[in-house]
Parts: sequence; C-alpha cells; structure tokens
Amino acid sequence: MPIRMHRLRTTLTAALAAAVAAAGVLVVLLSSSAPARALSNGLALTPPMGWNDWNAFGCGVSESLVEQTAQYMVTSGMKAAGYQYVNIDDCWMSSSRDANGNLVADPNKFPDGMKAVADFVHGLGLRLGIYEEAGTATCAGFPGSLGHETQDANLFASWGVDYLKYDNCNGGSEPTQQRYEAMRDALAATGRPILFALCEWGVDSVWTWGAQTGNMWRTTSDISANYSSMLSIFHSNVALAQYASPGGWNDPDMLEVGNGMSATEDQSEFSLWSEMAAPLLAGTDLRKASAATMALYLNKDVIAVDQDPLGRQGVEVSSTGGLDVLAKPLSNGDVAVVLFNENGSAATISTTATADGLPSASSYTLNDLWAHSSTTTSSSTFTANVPAHGVVMYRVSANGAHSPSASASASASARPTATRSASPSPSATPSGSRSPSASPSPSARPSNSAFCHVTYSTQSQWPGGFTANVTIADTGTSTINGWTLVFAFPGDQKVASAWNASVSQNGATVTAVSMSYNSSLSPGTSTSFGIQGIWTNSDAAPTQFTINNTACG
Ligand code: GLA
Repeated sequence: MPIRMHRLRTTLTAALAAAVAAAGVLVVLLSSSAPARALSNGLALTPPMGWNDWNAFGCGVSESLVEQTAQYMVTSGMKAAGYQYVNIDDCWMSSSRDANGNLVADPNKFPDGMKAVADFVHGLGLRLGIYEEAGTATCAGFPGSLGHETQDANLFASWGVDYLKYDNCNGGSEPTQQRYEAMRDALAATGRPILFALCEWGVDSVWTWGAQTGNMWRTTSDISANYSSMLSIFHSNVALAQYASPGGWNDPDMLEVGNGMSATEDQSEFSLWSEMAAPLLAGTDLRKASAATMALYLNKDVIAVDQDPLGRQGVEVSSTGGLDVLAKPLSNGDVAVVLFNENGSAATISTTATADGLPSASSYTLNDLWAHSSTTTSSSTFTANVPAHGVVMYRVSANGAHSPSASASASASARPTATRSASPSPSATPSGSRSPSASPSPSARPSNSAFCHVTYSTQSQWPGGFTANVTIADTGTSTINGWTLVFAFPGDQKVASAWNASVSQNGATVTAVSMSYNSSLSPGTSTSFGIQGIWTNSDAAPTQFTINNTACG
C-alpha cells in the first residue's frame, strides 16, 4: 500500500485505539447507535488459523505456491495442529473482468483456475481463502468488488471459496460500514459458509461494528517484519479486548514469525497473538521455514491458549516501564499469563494470582508453555526473569481454591475497567435467543437432598457477559447413570457456549446433558461443567435444579 496512506492509517488507528483505551465513553456512544444485527454464519467460534501469502510474497502469489504450501501444511503437522485456511491475497486476478463482468484468475499465475485450486485444497482437508476489495480496485490495482458484491460473492461460492479477506483501498465516498455490509449480505445470500475477514485497518472503529459484519476485523495498519511494527500493533490491539468473542475477533494482522525478527521476537509475537485470541495466520514461506520457526508455529500449548473455547481476549493487567503482564481466562478455570519485556535488556517481571484473575488457593501450578516445564508453588506471587523483547508464558492452575466467591471476584478483576461501560456483544447471542420465555421452574417432584446437590457459581461477571461453573454432586447412595440437569435463569441470561456438557436453552429454561466421560456419577462424587453467556438486565443465579426430573436439594 502507498506509504502516505500507510502513515495515515497508522496515525488514525493509534489515535482511535488510545481513545477507546483511555475513556470507555466512546464505547457507549458507538455501541448504542449500531443496529444489533449479529453475524450468524456459525464460523470462527475460535480464532481462525491458517496461512496467507502476502507477508512473504507480496504480489508473487501462484497456484504452485498455494498448492505446495497446502501440501506442506499437511506433512509438517500444521493441519493437525489446527491450521485450516490457505489464503490467497491480492494480485491473484487479471487486470479486468471478462465480458460477463466476472473476475478472472490470472491465467499465468493460476493456469488451472480457482475452482481447481479449491478442489486441491479441499482434497487435503483444508479450506481456501481469497482476497477482494470493498472499493473499485484492490490496493495493488486489480478490479474491486464495490458495486459487484452479489456477482463476486456468487463466483467465489461457485469456486468453493471458504474465506474472504475484504480490503479497504479505493472505497470512494460510500461509508465504510455500508460497503462491508453489502458484501456480508452477498456472502450470506450465497448459502455457502464463507468466513468474512474485514481488512479495514481500524480507521472507522471497526471493532464497534465488526461483530455484526464479519468474523474478524483488522484493528491496525499493515504489520511488517520488525520488532517496532509488531510492538506498536500489539499496543493498539491489546486495548480492544472487550470487543472479541466467539465468532468475531480483533485481528492484529498476519504473523511475521519466520520473516526476519529475532527468534525471541518471533516467540513474543506468537505468544502475544495467542494471548490476544488473534487469528493465527502464518505469513512466511512455510516450505523453507527453519526447524526453529516451525517449532514456534507448532507449539500446541500456546495454540491451545489462542483456541480456548471460552473465547476471551487476554487483557493487560499491568504495564509499567515496558514490562507488561497479560492474563487470559481459560475455559477450565486456568489463566494464561504472559510476562512481556518490551525493553532492550533482560528484566524481572512479577505478578500475583489476584491480579491475574485466579482464585485464592493453597498452591498454584505454573506450566511454562515454552520451556515445557511445570512448577508448583504455594506463593501467590509469580516472578520470572524475561529476556529483552521476550516473553515468559505460563498456564496457571489454582490447586484447592478456597471459595467460589473468591474465585468470582478475582476472575472479574481480570476484565479491563473499560468493559464496564460496554454493551453485550451481539455476536455472542445464541441462535435460540429470540424464542419466547418458557415457564421458569422445571421442578416436578419434591426436592431430594439425599439424591443430588447442584452448585451454580458465577466465575466472571461484567456488564453484558458472564461465565459460570456448575457442579453436580451425587449426595445419595446410588449411582446416577447419565444425567440431565434442568434449571431456569431468574435473569435474562442467554447461554452462548458451554464446555464439558451439552447445553441448550429454551426461553429461561436451560437443559444440560452429560458428556460420555462424566455421565456416570457414583455416590459422594461430583462433576462440573461451564457456561458462558450474555445478559442485559440481570444475571441473578438460578437456585432450583432438577436432575433426571428429580429436584436437587
Ligand atoms: C492491504 C492489506 C494487506 C494486503 C495488501 C494487498 O495493505 O492491509 O494485508 O492485503 O493490501 O495489496
């Protein structure tokens, strides 16, 4: 992209991100004006993972590059590690449309055409991404989709495209949001699930309308393969945590891992992006990547933090003199903690369990996700020596947590204060949310405390959202073989996702069914599952529960 435009984007993005971080006020103004129209294509429930050619090849994309890379993604173990999308960026097409107005793949670069490439990629069990523009021409000057949205979306669907990166050059005077909504609607009308990646650079506070329009949205101008670019993008993106949730993610741009930063800086980028629940799109020539680079891309423990189903972006719990602590709550109650040293010499960084949103506990186990080592400590202060420009990344578990209420307040404290003025994310609305309320109390028989006991404990709570842990104990004398738990929310909560149980909701009534591993509960034992959801007026906890139609005490 032109340098002048690049600078303008950088300045605007930084200014807007800073404004949001400093004053949650902007959040209120913007979120109250947007129509609550959630994107419901069911895609990107965890941040998308894959590869894109742009960072390493620019306009040098070709059919052979894409197919060789796809092949390598399978043989190298990337596919098994979760990388799915093989994405073609700008410069894939001919300089004009055909006589019917259709886009044409450049016959020199893609001699077999895009349908053949899609078939090849699908044959490997991967998905194909393509690139277009919400303007009259792409950033590199090829035909754009503005005014051709339906025709182009239909063409992409007919080729078998699974992902569209939609860029923002040459947009003219039509408002940005409108241009992106036109393509969103055209994609939906094709009937093919196509992940919609908004590459709008954050100039129009895209994070405030991104979740209604796409599955991810670039929050900054383009990244380049150097530490200061990576660092400045991290600073902008980390302030936007409240806008990310399953189905819609902040996108700090494609990874530069393997493209020239030091190994330490590459490791920092991969850690920070994962901690921020960012899309993980490898941006290097994988076919020639070193073993060290591949080891970064393939760290399954770090990937698991990025892909955690709770879908919360990590937040900066402290940042002083270039020494940052980030915390990301995970679905099993663990917290991923990144200690990041922005500075040019090694430093000691400390944090506490409370600051990181962990409950008070008798001890904590710290799994070092890069050293692949684990330590258990009774101290609730965690300290590490962190190299210049480097990170230490832990997955921390609390052992023998003292009380659910301690856990609830500590977890809540990990949300940035700015979230307190945010409205709920529309993307988290479950599909059943518009169904009429059912009668609240499901209990049919008298309560029986000598059969079961259920504890519902809110883990995190913020305006618009919550997570809760539900524990079912067999307090009787016989085994409960398979359980169906029913309860009603006294508030207007809607479950958006669940783990360790299959959960559905009809009106206020929630039904949770055991998974195979916890289907049998013997006397004196208990099992737990978690839910995440949204609320508007009240998230008061339910108090009455039935298991297999018998009320629990
Ligand atoms: C813009 C985007 C980049 C890349 C180029 C292609 O700059 O932000 O990611 O897609 O266009 O021209």
